[in-house]
Amino acid sequence: MHVLEAIRQRGSTRAFLPKAVSRELIQQLLAAARYSPSGTNIQPWRVHVVTGAVRDRLCARVVAAARTGTGEAPPYAYYPATWREPYLGRRRACGWGLYGTLGIAKSDRERMQAQQLRNFQFFDAPVGLFFTIDNDLPQGAWLDYGMFLQTVMLAAEGVGLATCPQAAWLDYHSIIRDELMLPADQTLVCGMAVGYRDTSAIVNGFRPDRLPVQSFTVWHDGEGGLS
Ligand SMILES: Cc1cc2nc3c(=O)[nH]c(=O)nc-3n(C[C@H](O)[C@H](O)[C@H](O)COP(=O)(O)O)c2cc1C
Repeated sequence: MHVLEAIRQRGSTRAFLPKAVSRELIQQLLAAARYSPSGTNIQPWRVHVVTGAVRDRLCARVVAAARTGTGEAPPYAYYPATWREPYLGRRRACGWGLYGTLGIAKSDRERMQAQQLRNFQFFDAPVGLFFTIDNDLPQGAWLDYGMFLQTVMLAAEGVGLATCPQAAWLDYHSIIRDELMLPADQTLVCGMAVGYRDTSAIVNGFRPDRLPVQSFTVWHDGEGGLS
């Protein structure tokens, strides 16, 4: 697959087919993701592949916790503590776009919560990935990590799989730590659902817009003008 095709084809997938994913395929995509760049090649990633009974038990525990509470403080600030424009508007557009695709009205809190809970079933994907990093690594290593995550997702497209990166799990990181016996020197970065995209699911028709290139690019070309 051409790299540009993989970039455009990838989209956060929130409904998967009930089809098992072979260990070889996961191995294959992780083997490709190893080639992600990192400053001085420190390769700060650590991946936990969760399937079968472990996946089911972990999901059941987090779903039960999420049904009765709002979760715990995340291990690090992924989202801003206070939302401001232009990010607030973009975030809202994303949320309403997703719920609108599903026909969920703005007043329908119950269905919104039910959709949010789908995160904790990996949207029915048979494989869950959890990514961790050493606590003491600085921001640069997190930059490396982001590249790794995108490479995992593009490699997944390359082997015919789909993904959804998930920060939602951060609110339940202690349960994940407990189930996976994560050492105390590791921080949970995020989760990721991996499986075969259900192309007939309405939710997978949601493809959020992107800003045009000129809105985030300044050309310093000495021609005296920006376009
Ligand atoms: C690190 C990260 C965490 C995310 N967490 C969630 C999540 O918990 N649940 C979810 O449904 N989508 C999650 N998303 C998906 C974003 O909403 C999505 O990437 C964005 O709206 C752009 O859409 P696209 O990925 O389909 O292109 C996450 C994305 C990233 C990069």
